[in-house]
Amino acid sequence: MSTYVTAVLRTDEPPLMHEAVLEAVRLLKEGEVVALPTETVYGLAANALDANAVAKIFEAKERPTFDPLIVHLPHKQQLDLVADVPPEIAQTVKQLTERFWPGPLTLLLPKKPIVPDIVTAGLPTVAVRVSSNAVFKRVCSALDKPLAAPSANRFGSISPTSASAVMAELDGRIHLVLDAGASLYGLESTIIKVEPGSPKPLITIVRPGPLTPDDLKVYGKVKVATRTVVDEATEAPGQLASHYAPRTPLRLLSRPSDFIPEEGKRYALMSYRGEEKDGYLNLCEWEEVMMLSPGNGKLPEAAVRFFHILRRLDELGVDEIIAEPLHEHGMGIAMMDKLRRASRRP
Ligand code: TXA
Ligand code: MG
Repeated sequence: MSTYVTAVLRTDEPPLMHEAVLEAVRLLKEGEVVALPTETVYGLAANALDANAVAKIFEAKERPTFDPLIVHLPHKQQLDLVADVPPEIAQTVKQLTERFWPGPLTLLLPKKPIVPDIVTAGLPTVAVRVSSNAVFKRVCSALDKPLAAPSANRFGSISPTSASAVMAELDGRIHLVLDAGASLYGLESTIIKVEPGSPKPLITIVRPGPLTPDDLKVYGKVKVATRTVVDEATEAPGQLASHYAPRTPLRLLSRPSDFIPEEGKRYALMSYRGEEKDGYLNLCEWEEVMMLSPGNGKLPEAAVRFFHILRRLDELGVDEIIAEPLHEHGMGIAMMDKLRRASRRP
């Protein structure tokens, strides 16, 4: 593994933004990787059409090469560059991309030969999206190439929703991080597969995320794939059963009575809204209680804080993180999916 001095460049004022974008584009043109903000989580980007550059993503993340990457286009009009949209689903794909791009929606589509095999891990499909983040858009448009970008964390670890979280994961492994503050959604994009169907097309959510079944149901019959085993041929191969894991063991409860503290162990609670009536606050002398949605119980607010809180709880060095369950609708589907994966040990 190469070691670097990792620079973090701010983008919160126009001259800084200009400099930062220039530097990112310079490195990307040289075939290097750069961590960039997106509206979902921070990504580790490289020119998707340059197999050598893409290989550096796998190296920096220690990511196994069987796990394919998402390709981010500069503009939605460029979809045809990387994907062959089958005529049977062309109308639905058009409707979805018109409505949700740029934004947190990733589509699985048959790939064009221009996309190197390392990007798709040899699969015949490519995952594609267009980011709405202003900094990401500038970099991608100035480079005028699709960018392959997984979340900017080490493989299997917690996704970063800030530049400091990227540094905690990849400091010394990459040249540059562009800092654009906290991620807007805080959860990775919703990944879908579209198939023809009658009377409506079939939309399968392969990875739940910020766009929910309710958001998508206008465009087809929506199914959420509740998969916990790896099916390399069809679904998201990176969605390993044990994933998004803090180093501290995490246990997801179904109800308060599921938890009996052990003598001498230190526990921290990931609470949904921190209300006593929910029944979790008094279960033991918590080392720390952190709330996903302080007071109100709003799922989008919880989503923004989710990975940040998980990371903070992980830093405490307690024996176990105990997580309250969330409502399994809307963005709660994605967070419960991640909590289940985080609670499984490899
Ligand atoms: O919001 C996001 O999607 C972020 C930002 C940076 O764009 N990216 C992200 O990438 O979450 P990553 O690599 O952490 O997760 C991508 C997921 C993996 O589970 C991978 O297996 C799946 O997408 N994937 C990529 N290409 C695929 C393909 N051709 N078929 C099935 N699954 C695919
Ligand atoms: Mg990831």
